[in-house]
Amino acid sequence: MRHCIYPGTFDPITYGHLDVLSRAAKLFGRVTVAVAESAGKAPLFSPKERLEMIAPNVANLPNVSVTTFSGLLVEFCMAHQADAIIRGLRALSDFEFEFNMALMNRHLEPELETLFVMPNEQFSYTSSTLVKQVAAYGGDVGHFVPPNVAEALKAANVRAGRS
Ligand code: COA
Repeated sequence: MRHCIYPGTFDPITYGHLDVLSRAAKLFGRVTVAVAESAGKAPLFSPKERLEMIAPNVANLPNVSVTTFSGLLVEFCMAHQADAIIRGLRALSDFEFEFNMALMNRHLEPELETLFVMPNEQFSYTSSTLVKQVAAYGGDVGHFVPPNVAEALKAANVRAGRS
């Protein structure tokens, strides 16, 4: 059974990420969503909170599981006997970053392939940062994130004294 890893910071997960994930779940026997600590990005939510936000949104995909990781992605992939890494490509602007990351990962682990899928174009301009910004100013993010994530963003804003 082919196993792929879908890595990301997911701070927070969006419908765009979930679109990529549902495509990956059709292509692979098993998909592991790997939530990176990404301390350098100073995430709003802890890895555990990000995992807990994802879990109910993948419950309908029986071949998908979610976990957190720190350290090198390729090491995580090898430890989990993954065949491939899957990433979404939203627009040309993603290409250079993704290209460099895929080649670096190939340098580190030549046997591991990176595959790209395109999310539905309605998500091509979504990003976690933009969603967080809109939510921070009280905007409606319901089009971009599942209800439990929208609630978590509201709660984070209340904690930060923004509403
Ligand atoms: N729909 C909507 N938004 C999407 C998206 C999609 N389909 N795909 C990506 N994005 C957005 C995210 O919301 C995020 O937005 P933000 O930067 O505004 O927060 C951005 O695109 C990229 O996020 P994501 O896909 O979560 O990836 P990332 O760049 O945060 O994750 C890792 C990169 C974690 C995979 C990479 O840093 C990694 O592998 N880290 C482990 C350490 C390592 O091995 N480093 C060497 C790598 S060569």
